Parts: sequence; structure tokens; C-alpha cells
Amino acid sequence: MSKIATLTIDGKSYEFPVVVGTENEVAIDIKSLRGVTGGVTTLDPGYKNTGSCESAITFLNGEEGILRYRGYSIEELAEKADFLEVAYLLIFGELPTKEQLDKFHNDIKAQSQVDEDIKKILDGFPKAAHPMGVMSALTSALIAFNPTSVNVDSEEEMYQAIVRIMGKFPVLTAWTYRKRAGLPLDYGDDSLGYVDNFLKMMFKKPNGEYTSNKTVVNALDKLLILHADHEQNCSTSTVRMVGSSHAGLFASLSAGINALWGPLHGGANQAVIEMLEAIKSDGGDTHKFMNKAKDKEDPFRLMGFGHRVYKNFDPRAKIIKKSADDVLSALGVQDPILDIAKGLEKEALEDSYFVDRKLYPNVDFYSGIIYRAMGIPVEMFTPMFSLGRLPGWIAQWREMRLKKEPIGRPRQVYIGENLRSFKPVDKR
Ligand code: CMC
Repeated sequence: MSKIATLTIDGKSYEFPVVVGTENEVAIDIKSLRGVTGGVTTLDPGYKNTGSCESAITFLNGEEGILRYRGYSIEELAEKADFLEVAYLLIFGELPTKEQLDKFHNDIKAQSQVDEDIKKILDGFPKAAHPMGVMSALTSALIAFNPTSVNVDSEEEMYQAIVRIMGKFPVLTAWTYRKRAGLPLDYGDDSLGYVDNFLKMMFKKPNGEYTSNKTVVNALDKLLILHADHEQNCSTSTVRMVGSSHAGLFASLSAGINALWGPLHGGANQAVIEMLEAIKSDGGDTHKFMNKAKDKEDPFRLMGFGHRVYKNFDPRAKIIKKSADDVLSALGVQDPILDIAKGLEKEALEDSYFVDRKLYPNVDFYSGIIYRAMGIPVEMFTPMFSLGRLPGWIAQWREMRLKKEPIGRPRQVYIGENLRSFKPVDKR
């Protein structure tokens, strides 16, 4: 029997249907609330309790530390799948057959050229510009070179738009890095896999050969998988929101990149390394920084700790922590900030402030240490996150458009002045 929720306002009762998801998540469907009550709305800053959509892409249970893409556990995907397979799974709903995967990869490769004029736009940026700002601008600029908007009623057109951005985005990411590093721009090598090719585009020196390192390729593949989707987080909700106005895919993605940039979201991976470096150069006293994080008068937060949804270990952090150990030892890198990170984690997990608030390491706590061991500079950490998140954003945009969701437009509770009369400037 279907469940009903009853709401009483001023002695009057209203009934609302209760929606139950496939993992027994329960939500009160308040679509009719304003209509039946004559204008009552809900108030939920930060959308802590608001479901913005029904989605079949990613399931996450923050209390139990579960994350699944299309029903597959993140642990299994990180161990057995590669990034392109996961991208296909997220976007189209099923793991690809060998033929589908080859076609997907070939179609992406066929779209991996970027108009040469994009280089002029890139040249307009100072070298010191933050790569996330550059990438957002370049992604947006792609619209000018691909001006026809996608007909979302045509699966083929939708598919073409998807492979176009999957092909061009790694090029834009690598170019953003190379411009900062003063290296000539490179188009990579179509004979390589998606991730290997990206690494070549990043690191090939103009006067030397690029040799692929299996440990690095596998580690990056895994990191990208772990970042590939996380249901209705800030950047994904932004992509869906912008796309809900029927702005195009590239415009929606560009907005998502900006949302991801913030230090409370994807920007945390850069902030974590900067924090660990600061602790190191301050003498390594983790306790001092723990106290700062707990001090309500101090704006400092322990970056890479806490999560809006996880009130248990972030399952991605567990995988990444192990991977950090494996990658650093395979590459023979000894990074003192890994020890600082482990020390901080241990202290936090035993500290009542963090225990009571259920603050655990999140995906960003150890990822930067791996990126650093791979030779990726700290300002490129958040762009790396966006490269991983790209298929998730695409999948969520596609789902939203296919379901013909209405334009996103939250309500508010107005708390400003009541009606008053205008006074001419000489009377104020
Ligand atoms: N250090 C110290 N205290 C914290 C931290 C932290 N990292 N995170 C949360 N708290 C405290 C917070 O002060 C509050 O305390 P009180 O109840 O006494 O006021 C309580 O814990 C709840 O925090 P909140 O800010 O209300 O929780 P939220 O769900 O709004 O924020 C968060 C989640 C991720 C923004 C926050 O935990 C944070 O700022 N963490 C550090 C930044 C970070 O690592 N972000 C990456 C998130 S995971 C990847 C991603 O989303 O891209």
C-alpha cells in the first residue's frame, strides 16, 4: 500500500504521497504543496533535505558509506573497470559490450581535435590564471565553434554532442596545463587509451619521447572512476539547473566547472595539499592545526574532512588511501606530507569534536598526494577532478533532458521591507 504523509498547518490537514526509491529511500512528494495550501512553501537552505529529482544514475548511502554507479559498487568498478567503461555506464545506463566500447572510444577519438582558434583564446589568459577559470572559459568557448544546439529528441545528436565533449575536454585540460608550464600544445596520440593519451598530452616534452608508466595510468584511471559521479552535489546540481533552462550541454558543463572550483567542493583537493604543506613548514605540529579547526572563532577547517552526505567513511577515501600507498611505493616517491596526512586522520578519528560531528576523510584528502606523485602540479588538481566528473555531469544532464524536467526555479521566503514609497534623492 502506498504511504501518505500528513501535514497540518493552522489546524488544517493536507495529504501528500510518499515516494520510495529502489533502495527504500523515502521522500515526501510536495509538488502540490503550494497549490493545495494556497501558497505555503518549504524552506531548506543548502537543500540539506530536498530531493531535486528522481535519478537512476548513482546511489549513495552516507550513513553506511555506500556508493554505487548504476547499481555497481564503487569498490568493484575501481578494481575491475576502466574509466571509459564507467563513463559509458554512467551516461547510457549499462556496461558497454566490447563493440560498443570500441565504437565509443573511436567516436571520441574522432572528435578530439580542437579548433586551432581556441589557442588564441588560451593565449589571452595570463600564465598565472587559475586553470579552473581557464577551463570553464574554454568549455564555454566551444559553443562558438559548435553553435548548433543539440536536439535532445534525437539520441544520435545527443550521442554526437557527448563524444564531442568527451574528446575535446582532455585536450583542453592538458592545454591549460601546458600553457601554464610554457610547453607547446600537443594533440596526443590516437593509438593510446583515453587516460594514457591524456597523460601523454600533459607530459610529452617537445624534445623527448613519452613513455607510458603503467602504475601512473592505472592509478589515474582509478582516480577518475572514483570522481566520475556523486549524485546531486553542488556542481552536478548546477549542471542540471543550467541545463534545465535548455542552455546547451557545453554551457551547462562550463557552469559545473565553476561550481566545482570552490574550496568547499572540488577545490578542496588543492586546499588539502596547501594545508598539509603549511603544517609541514610550520614544523609538523598536527595538534595545533586540529585545535584551529575546532576553534569556532577561527575560520580554518580541516580540508578534506567532512561531507554533506557521508556521516561515515567516504568509501572513495578508503580506496584512495590504499592507492596512495601503492602508487608512492611503486614510483619510489617518499612524500613527507603523506605521513602528516595519516597523522591528522588518526588524530581526527580519535577526537570527540570530529567523532561527534561524524567528520571523516573525504575523497579529496588523499587524492592530491597521488596527483603530486604523478607530477601533476597542485593548481591542476581540481581540473583533474573535473576531468573525472565529466561523464557524471553528462549523464545527469542527459537524464534531466530525457525526462523533460521543468526549469529549476526554487522558491524563497521574503524577509525584506514591506511596501514603502519612493523618496526623491534630495529628500533621503
Ligand atoms: N573542519 C572542522 N569542522 C568542520 C569541518 C571541517 N572540515 N567540516 C564540518 N565541520 C563542522 C562544522 O563547523 C559544523 O560544526 P557545528 O555543528 O559545531 O557548527 C559541523 O561540522 C557540520 O558542518 P557543516 O558545515 O554544517 O556541514 P555541511 O554539510 O554544510 O558541509 C562540507 C560539508 C564538506 C562543506 C564541510 O564538511 C567542509 O567544509 N569540509 C572541508 C572542505 C572539504 O573537504 N570539501 C570537500 C568535500 S568532498 C568532495 C566534494 O564535494 O567535492
